[in-house]
Amino acid sequence: MNYDFVFSSFVEQVKAENRYREFSTIDKINNSPIIAKYKNKDVIVWCSNDYLCMSKNSHVKNAAINAINNYGTGSGGTRNISGNNSLVEELECLVAKLHKKEIGMVFSSGFITNQSVLSAIIKIIPSIFIFSDECNHASIIDGLKFSKNKTTFKHNDCFDLEEKIKNNKSEHKIIVIESVYSMNGNICDLKNVVEIAKKYNALIYLDEVHAVGLYGKNGGGISQELNLESEIDIIQGTFGKAFGCIGGYISSSKNIISAIKSVAKGFIFSTSLPPMVVAASIKSVSHLMNSEVERNAMKKNVEILKSKLKACKIDIIENKSHIIPVMIRDAVKAKLISKVLLEDHGIYIQHINYPTVPKGTERLRITATNLHTTDMIDDLVEKLVLLLKQ
Ligand SMILES: Cc1ncc(COP(=O)(O)O)c(C=O)c1O
Repeated sequence: MNYDFVFSSFVEQVKAENRYREFSTIDKINNSPIIAKYKNKDVIVWCSNDYLCMSKNSHVKNAAINAINNYGTGSGGTRNISGNNSLVEELECLVAKLHKKEIGMVFSSGFITNQSVLSAIIKIIPSIFIFSDECNHASIIDGLKFSKNKTTFKHNDCFDLEEKIKNNKSEHKIIVIESVYSMNGNICDLKNVVEIAKKYNALIYLDEVHAVGLYGKNGGGISQELNLESEIDIIQGTFGKAFGCIGGYISSSKNIISAIKSVAKGFIFSTSLPPMVVAASIKSVSHLMNSEVERNAMKKNVEILKSKLKACKIDIIENKSHIIPVMIRDAVKAKLISKVLLEDHGIYIQHINYPTVPKGTERLRITATNLHTTDMIDDLVEKLVLLLKQ
């Protein structure tokens, strides 16, 4: 058997379907978090999830450097083997404070968090019936993989959710949603979900990955913005996006977290985050809990960019979040526009094709940060008009 041929045939198939992923080499080596080097040229980055440029915040960087000097670079193993350290305990208390919960639990990424926690819940309550939004992230889908008791409901559709939940006879139920959906920027209808969960006695698992740091008075996400934290049983987040570091977490009650700690494989069997990352995350989370400057500046830029795109009749998905999907609706065209922007116009926006989004809804997913300038926004709009009207 020629295994190499098996793999290369697979790649050919993926290429034929226009879903072969190619990655540009974008080095964020400049002082500015939004200007990167591509083939020795400066390019402006318009698709980063480092939404508030915290990865280059000097206090956050210094926290990491100090932690390296004190602790070295690695954690030395799983927490089972190497134990906790005071930094990770501090971070777990901090995320609990951020979401007004009893305790936090930190994982090595947001993806691992969803995958491990959801599969742990299924293990702890095998009969639990899951109601999952059809647009939930791949990490959630993976976490729910081994459950036989699950259904999806139409995206952000509380009517469909209630239709499904009211006819369900299971004693245990959980609703799994995101607060800000990363590919269309829709914000969930949390108030209604909370009412449905109460009415039918279901738990709520809320992924706030694209909302923490950005929404709510202290950056606690949509649940904080709507003052609904106490109604959500498990709030999940990441340090990898608005907080500019890496790692994921949940915050919840002591009982829920104690149970999950006993079974979550991605927690038990994987090396824990290095102290330098934990220290940087502590600095970033605590900074954004006390400062609204960054998120307000980002939101202002998002509004300016959205209104300029709309004025130029560019096809964007209307939403109330910071994510701006510019619809191309063609895989080849989306890839080409992304390439021309990068090679000829010094603009980096990764195109989003199937399977990340459904076929026919290919797009450019634009994110404006707090540090983009009005001149940069004008330049981006001008180049998009030029390319999209061709
Ligand atoms: C909704 C959602 N949840 C979870 C994740 C995974 O988070 P992380 O990047 O920290 O692994 C992502 C990543 O983009 C996401 O979009």
